[in-house]
Amino acid sequence: MTSAAVTTSPAAPVPTPFELFGGAVAVRKLVDRFYDLMEGDPDYAALRALHAPDLDPMRTSLTGFLIAWLGGPRDWFDARPGGPCVMSMHRNIVIDRAVADQWLAAMARALDASAIDAPLRSAITTAFTRMAGGMVNR
Ligand code: HEM
Repeated sequence: MTSAAVTTSPAAPVPTPFELFGGAVAVRKLVDRFYDLMEGDPDYAALRALHAPDLDPMRTSLTGFLIAWLGGPRDWFDARPGGPCVMSMHRNIVIDRAVADQWLAAMARALDASAIDAPLRSAITTAFTRMAGGMVNR
């Protein structure tokens, strides 16, 4: 009687959320949709009013933050020595529940156009909801 040889192969590398999201181009598209909605839809007027007139720096910064946050390149953090905390960066911005909900609603609509599966969408939404809720300070 012969026994079949048991072979083991190295486990396939687990893709990061950043890779599952589609990489830097997909993250930038998400951020552009988010700020386009914020700029164009009066439902988000209060949120828009909190931001500087020129949203280009925010488009760059939020893209960089999300790339790192999703497990991609950490350039955003590397450019900000001292371990910046995105929650603390909002401490001096007056954020009430209504404006936090505007942020989440615009982001939900932006995510609608992202080609991601339901579990990743759900995980991102849960995390954003917790973060935005934690930023409410009024
Ligand atoms: C709760 C609702 C939120 C409000 C009202 C809000 C508002 C703001 C405002 C007014 C700024 C400064 C914009 C400017 O200088 O023009 C900002 C910056 C920023 N926000 Fe938010 N934000 C919210 C939630 C979030 C969340 C959930 C994230 C992360 C997922 C986030 C990530 C960032 C980043 C990365 C910056 C740029 C920081 C920098 O480069 O200085 N924000 N936010």
